[in-house]
Parts: sequence; structure tokens; C-alpha cells
Amino acid sequence: MARIPQNFIDDLIARTDIVQLIDGRVPLKRQGGEYAACCPFHDEKSPSFTVSPTKQFYHCFGCGAHGTAISFLMEYDRLEFRDAIEELARMAGVEIPADAADSGPSIDPKLWEALDTAQQIFARSLRGSDKAIAYLKGRGLDGATAKRFGIGYAPDAWQTVVDAVADTAIAVQAGLAIRKDDGRAYDRFRDRVTFPIRDLRGRVIGFGGRAFGDEKPKYLNSPETPVFHKGTQLYGLYEARQASKAPAHLLVVEGYMDVAALAQFGIDCAVATLGTATTTDHINLMFRTTSRIVLCFDGDRAGRDAGWRAVERALPAMRDGREIRLLFLPDGEDPDTLVRKEGADAFGERIAGSEPLSTFLLSQLTDEVDLSSVDGRARLVALAKPHLEALAPGAFRKGLEQQVSQIVGFDIHDMTASPPTPRPPPPPLVESDEEHAPPTLTPRVRRAARALLERPAIAAELPSIPRLADAPDQQFLEQLIHAFADNPAMTAAQYLERLRGEPDEATLDDVLSAATVPAGFDPAADFQEALGLITQDNAKQRIRNLTTLSQQRELTQGEREELRAAYQR
Ligand code: UTP
Ligand code: MN
Repeated sequence: MARIPQNFIDDLIARTDIVQLIDGRVPLKRQGGEYAACCPFHDEKSPSFTVSPTKQFYHCFGCGAHGTAISFLMEYDRLEFRDAIEELARMAGVEIPADAADSGPSIDPKLWEALDTAQQIFARSLRGSDKAIAYLKGRGLDGATAKRFGIGYAPDAWQTVVDAVADTAIAVQAGLAIRKDDGRAYDRFRDRVTFPIRDLRGRVIGFGGRAFGDEKPKYLNSPETPVFHKGTQLYGLYEARQASKAPAHLLVVEGYMDVAALAQFGIDCAVATLGTATTTDHINLMFRTTSRIVLCFDGDRAGRDAGWRAVERALPAMRDGREIRLLFLPDGEDPDTLVRKEGADAFGERIAGSEPLSTFLLSQLTDEVDLSSVDGRARLVALAKPHLEALAPGAFRKGLEQQVSQIVGFDIHDMTASPPTPRPPPPPLVESDEEHAPPTLTPRVRRAARALLERPAIAAELPSIPRLADAPDQQFLEQLIHAFADNPAMTAAQYLERLRGEPDEATLDDVLSAATVPAGFDPAADFQEALGLITQDNAKQRIRNLTTLSQQRELTQGEREELRAAYQR
């Protein structure tokens, strides 16, 4: 994966206002030069979570959570680093540089061409196949819908695609051909109705192929390829987004045929997984298109079990403003048969009457226990706890916690609340060897660093960059002074993001999280004082060293001048 350039991250942090970002999720109150709220990362009654506009940094004195705008999105929205960057870029209205934006290893363009060639062959073959046309007609699919979904026919032959795609290795890599022991290859899809699966940009990434009769498998899918990933892609999402850029909801159904049939009846917001269960990645992907997802299942026991599994996967993707509902169909029906039987309006009413995730979750959990007994109620809390904890903090989680509290008749926090445990420091991203172990800071160095982070402009106002000692903590400070002198407008958050993954990250973290700003704190004076003590101490140390040395041998001219200068400090 191409790395996102540091200067882009730097710029993004500069464009982002962390106060505004957090305030949109956790309402903040002004408190002196900073902002405060009850910490979203642990339970508390009085606010110990602070956000500093100058440092562009948040910090909780209760649980120790702290970081930059990027860290906040990673923690609060539960985003990966890269997704957090993408989200900030979207909010700032900037584009991630093209060479870094394309996630994953670079893909041979011939792969796309091969898939496109196959799609053209299949679409053309359908027009010439009475058998395939009759099959689709028999299933009630009209020509316009078939065309819209690019439904095709893979001829009953072994070499159609292999012959059309000159490079056999590419055809195999694209999942279109299967290599034999003798090195030759044959077409994977033969004598099947084909459903092209497209990515969000509309490019064909793979196929599902429906057998005409009872052949096994009923649906043959492309294998995982460099462009086809069942766990993160969805059938019909491209087509749904073509129909509406901002659909009120997306409906997740089981089969390709269900998606196509619903679309034919005007319900053009259905998507299907690619023969797998719904994953958290699927849910997150859909939430980029809509804020409401309706998961559709069979009404039988197996359907409810599948619903439960999907809910477990969906919980980590829940955020305030996002909604998930469940729709259970009558036994023996799938959306394809049902919409044909009762029509789009009736089906639409089913969607409207679908069950909210919270209701389903609570009813499944309460089914497991005897609520009339104290034990049963306690067990409900225990059962609910892991699910509640899978949820990102926010109103949805609070609401669900309240509902559980109501059911059991006491505040579940009384039972689950424990004093916040200080977070363990994040594991270093790079193995730190002896030499690069993060330095422990002496109190003076910490004071100077803290003052500097509070007011980076101090560095630029220094007449010259002081030369500090070789000790690792002084080198850390010297680099910090350098960085801010070179770039007075840089915030603490920007510097922290530059160090992300470096051994010094932990050191900087340490300074920042200790930063309770005392009343009347004057960063410039504090910095001068601390730096003065450090340099004086360094000078004394140097005098001691040189004096010891002078007792062993004659000092050089340079050393004598240094000694004189040191005495004058
Ligand atoms: P179903 O077997 O429930 O069939 O498969 P369906 O969608 O109702 O299909 P029709 O109506 O008989 O044509 C549902 C989905 O499960 C995956 C496919 O994605 C299919 O659309 N599946 C099913 C496979 O991947 N392989 C199979 O062999 C069967
Ligand atoms: Mn079906």
C-alpha cells in the first residue's frame, strides 16, 4: 500500500480544527483556553477530558486517552489509520495524493481488460442464446433489468475466454480460467448465466454464474483475485449507487437474483454478499453510501441465526446517526419470489416495518434468560456487556445501556462500572532496539519540551538553537526546538503525527499527556528557565570532565577555550 506522504498528513492536521471535529461528536464546553467534556472513552460524572486548540490535541486526565484528530477518529469512530485520514480529507475537501490513494498493491491493467473482455463475450453470447434468454424469461426477468445488471451467458465451451484473452496467465489470475496440470488452461464459467460483479467505479471484478438446472454448484463464483474480495465487496452496490447517489437505505439480501428482481420492481437499493456472510467491512462500506441499512433474512430459525451473526458483525460499525434494521421474511420466501407475489408496495411496507437492531438485540438476549429471577437479570447484564462494549461510545450505546438497565431494574453501570484503568502505552510500531529505546526525560527537559509544545513560536524567537548534550533526552529536546524553529506555525499534533510509529513518539506522548496547564503558566518564561538550568548543568558537567581530563593530560587549545567559556556561563 502506497504510504500517505507526511507533508499531506501535516497539511491535513493544519486544515483540521480538532475542537470542531470533537465538538461534533462530544459537545465541548469552553474552559479557559481549552475545551472540556465528560470523557467519551470512560464513564465519568465530571469532565476530565480536555481539548487544546493550540496543541490540536486531546487528553483525558481520568483514563489517559489522548492524541491528535487522527487518533480521535481512530478511537472514537473506530477507524483504521488510513480511513481516518480519508475521513479528515473528505471533511477538509482535499484529495489524498493519487499515488497514495490507490490502496493495495498495484494491479496489472491487463487484469481489468481481461475481465472486461469476458463481460463483453458473455453479454454478446446471451443475445445469441435462446436457452439463456428462455431461462431468464422463465424467471420473470425483463430485458431492461438484464441489461442494467449486465447479465450474460457463458457459452458451453472450454476455450472461449481463454482464446479471447491472449495472456493465459492473466486469465487465470483474473479467475476466468483454470490451469490444468499440463500447463494449459480452460474457462471457469461454462454454460451458465453470468452476473458480473462490479466495484464502486463500475469495473467488472468477478462473476457469479448460475447453473440452468440442478448442477452443482448452483452458483459458481470467481475465486479471490487481486481485484475480487468477497469479504469487502457487494453485488449490486454500484448499480444501487447509479440509481441514487444518496439512497434512504440499502437492503441486504442473499442472492444475485433477489437484487435483480427487486430492481425490476423499482426497489433499486438492494445489494447481496458474494456467497458469504455479511462482514463488518461490508457494513462499513454500505455506510459510506447511506445511513440506514436493512438486513433481510429468511423468517425461519436459520434466518434468525444468520441475523444474529450479522448483528454481531454490525455492532462495531454502529455510530450515532447510523441505523441498522432487520427484516425477516415469511418462511419459504425470498425477496425474488415475494416481490413477484405481493408487489413492490407490500414489500416496501415490510421494509418500513423492519425491526430496529436494538430491539432485535435485546429480544434475542432476553430470550436467553429468565427475567423473573435475580440470577436471570444479572445474566442478562453479563450477556449484554460484550455487545455493548463492541459499540463505539455515543448516544446509541448510551440508549441501549439504558434499555438494559430498565429491563433489569437497576443501573447496569453500578454492576459493571470499575474505576478507569489507565491505558497501557500503545505498543511500539517498530521494534525498538537498545540504541533507539525512547529516552526517559529528566524533569527539566520535560518542562522545556512542555512549554515549547504549548507555544511553538518560542523556538523561532531564540537567537540561536542551543547545542545540548548527547544524552538521548536532550537530543530529543534539541530536535524539538529545531523542528519548531524551522516551522513556527506547526502544532504539537503535527509534530506528533510526524513521529507516529517512531520510538520518540512515546516520549512526546509522555510530555503531552502530562500537560496539565497550571493557572498562570507562562510558557516562554518556563522554557527559558528550564533551558537555562539545562545548559548551566551541561556547562558544569563539561567543566568537571575537562578538569578531570586536564589532570591526565594537557588540554588542547580548543578544550582550554571551551573551559574558559564554560566558566563564564
Ligand atoms: P440461494 O441458493 O439461496 O439461491 O443462494 P437464490 O439466490 O434464491 O437463487 P435462485 O433464486 O435459486 O437462482 C443465494 C446466494 O448464495 C450464493 C449466491 O450468491 C446466491 O445468490 N450461492 C448459492 C453461492 O455462492 N453458491 C451456491 O452454490 C449457492
Ligand atoms: Mn431465489
